[in-house]
Amino acid sequence: MLPTVHFYPDHRKIQVRSGTTVLDASSKARVQIRTRCDGKMACLMCKVIIEDQTGLSPMKNHEKLKLGELVDSGYRLACQACVIGDTNVTVPEDPLKAVIRALLAKQREEDEF
Ligand code: FES
Repeated sequence: MLPTVHFYPDHRKIQVRSGTTVLDASSKARVQIRTRCDGKMACLMCKVIIEDQTGLSPMKNHEKLKLGELVDSGYRLACQACVIGDTNVTVPEDPLKAVIRALLAKQREEDEF
């Protein structure tokens, strides 16, 4: 049976072959994970949060070095982490979208007064 990857907050699921990267799984599930280097571990934009990593390939040293302290918070690089079992992946909000959302919320608050 193929492993299932569940992406949050989009709540999209997809079954993939074991060994598929989380980045490739997201593409198949039509979940957007930001990238500029197409999986060459150069941009570090593909960070995702995976609390239970038992469904992933073990983290290699070069990924650990790139992520630094984020490793302790459950971060992985989607282009490096390979699916080997059922996995839940949280895709952090795009920083630009987060800024825009915060600005709009502030504007709404100001308009109420
Ligand atoms: S896609 Fe660029 S580091 Fe993962």
